[in-house]
Amino acid sequence: MMIAIQHTTVWLTGLSGAGKTTVAHALAQTLKAQGHAVTLLDGDKLRHGLNRDLGFTPEDRHENIRRTAEVARLMNDAGLTVIAALISPYRADRAMAEKIIGAAQFVEVYVSTPAAVCEERDVKGLYAKARAGQIAQFTGVSAPYEVPLSPALSLDTNTLALDESVARICQHLQQRR
Ligand code: ADX
Repeated sequence: MMIAIQHTTVWLTGLSGAGKTTVAHALAQTLKAQGHAVTLLDGDKLRHGLNRDLGFTPEDRHENIRRTAEVARLMNDAGLTVIAALISPYRADRAMAEKIIGAAQFVEVYVSTPAAVCEERDVKGLYAKARAGQIAQFTGVSAPYEVPLSPALSLDTNTLALDESVARICQHLQQRR
């Protein structure tokens, strides 16, 4: 059955390696299969284009979130469901994103996979580099991650199967109509 949702931004926040992108892609696939127009805004990808001039200082991350939220808002206004996957480590920046996108449209999902698991996975080898001092201000190593205080959902990809994470988000989207 098609879930009647629209104009929503599902904002996935969490550490590098937590599984945000994986959940985002699977969720996008599920929603598309139900007939929704969906677009994905992935921090890693945006940093190759729109946000290529930005680094990882708190100021640059703030600008990264601001631009991404503005794009999400435009896309929501155009009738798309947006799935945004960014570390977005600062509470204040996520609150800004919520304000830009609109509280009624913004769904904060904390991908809560424990730091030790993310570092153990080290899919991109960045934790090792950060530990070796080759990457400065790396989230979870040498830069903070501020845990969301009241996310709509928390999903630990270390204990939840991918389809279960997707199902929980879909269920939430359906309930909040
Ligand atoms: S955010 O903090 O500004 O929200 P964003 O999600 O766009 O970050 O980008 C994070 C990605 O950039 C990580 O998944 C990783 O691949 C890469 N990266 C490179 N340097 C850093 C760093 N210092 N801290 C965090 N991620 C980094």
